[in-house]
Formats: sequence, C-alpha cells, structure tokens
Amino acid sequence: TLSPIDTAKFVAARKAVEFVEDGMKLGLGTGSTAAWMVRCLGEMVREGGLKVLGVPTSGRTAELARQQGIEVVSLDEAKWLDLTIDGADEFDAELNLIKGGGGALLQEKIVATASDQMIVITDVSKQVETLGAFPLPVEVIPFGWQTTKALVEETLVSMDVLGQHSTLRMNGEVPFVTDEGNHIIDLHLQRIGNARQLALVLNQIPGVVENGLFIDICDKVIIGHGDGRVSTRD
Ligand code: A5P
Repeated sequence: TLSPIDTAKFVAARKAVEFVEDGMKLGLGTGSTAAWMVRCLGEMVREGGLKVLGVPTSGRTAELARQQGIEVVSLDEAKWLDLTIDGADEFDAELNLIKGGGGALLQEKIVATASDQMIVITDVSKQVETLGAFPLPVEVIPFGWQTTKALVEETLVSMDVLGQHSTLRMNGEVPFVTDEGNHIIDLHLQRIGNARQLALVLNQIPGVVENGLFIDICDKVIIGHGDGRVSTRD
C-alpha cells in the first residue's frame, strides 16, 4: 500500500499516460513523480505491446526507462517529440513552473521545448499563487562560478526581487555537478513578481546556462490527490 503522497504521484502519472498513443516519441521527465510515469509506461510497453521511443531528461531516467523495457533514443535521434511528461517543483495558475529541484532542469527544458505538448504531473502541494517559495535553480558553468553568482545577485538587487540571496548547491562536501558537468545556484526569492522577465534576464548573464523557470512551456497539469482523485488544469 502506498502513502498518500505516493498515491498522489502515482494516480497523476497513471492519468498522464492515457495521453500516450502508439508510435509516439516521448520526453521522459526526472524526479520521483516522473519515475512513476516511466514505470506506468514500462508496463504498457511490456504487457500492452505499446510502441514508443523515449528521450530521457537525465541519466537516472535513462537507466530506469531501459530497466522498464522502454526503447531509449537521444533527442537528436528523435529530432522532435509528440509529448513530454515531467514533474515540477511549483506551478501557478498560468501553468508556469519552477523545475530543477532534482538538478535536471537543462535537459528537461530542452526536451520539453522540443515537444508538441508538455504535461506536468504533480501533487497538490506544488500549486502556488506566485512562484518563488521553492528556491529557483540556475545552472552555471564551473568556470568562474563565484563571479557568476555575484553577478546573479547584483541582477536580483537591480530588479528589486525581494529576499535575494543565493547558495551553491552542494552534494555533501563538494559542489553538486549536473549531468552536463555544471553547478547549480539556488536563488532564495520567496516571490517572483515577474517570472517572464526574470527568466530572460538570468539567461543574459555570462556563465548562466539555463534557469528553472518554465514559461509558456507546459500545456496541462495533472494533479494527484492522496485519496486517489485526480484533477486537471489546462
Ligand atoms: C528535476 O530536475 C525536477 O525538475 C523535478 O521534475 C522536480 O524536482 C520534481 O521532482 P519530484 O517529482 O520528485 O517532486
């Protein structure tokens, strides 16, 4: 038996795979909710004879997808995707997102952007009025990261974003390293008044590779509840 939180993640994932059709090229997200989706998909492939190609958004997801019997290809082999299903750390009423809590935001954003449709699967806890309570991940290249971090902070001050301070994401004693060999700076902002502008401005800073704001990318959010209900926003 599943805990309420796992029930919520599972039922959201199970609902999302109903949108998968035979022959589709799929983006496979990263995180504990997306892992449920990969397992649901694996079952459809193994037991239902579903044929799909999966493009994983992380090494972790690639490994799970292969274990599940899903055929895995690179994004460049697939070229364009029909649908990406992924989790998120926060979503608002406009279906804008914060992602990257698991550190996979760069591949996730590339894959979601290369898809006709993106469906996000979550539990209710991730629904917010204004994005920003969850620290915003910014992926930076290791070269000069401290200078980049200082520039990011200066930019936040000039934009008058409240509560600005930032931290280098750690993995124990050493900086966390992403699948692309980069580091992550987490921005503790509390509220992001103008997410669209912040997303653009952050990506203008040299050394910044990408940020965890997903603006106008998600088409549908499927919310799982602890009692097994699902609701949808689109
Ligand atoms: C990974 O980089 C993130 O964007 C995940 O999608 C996010 O952290 C959601 O993970 P959970 O489903 O485990 O909450």
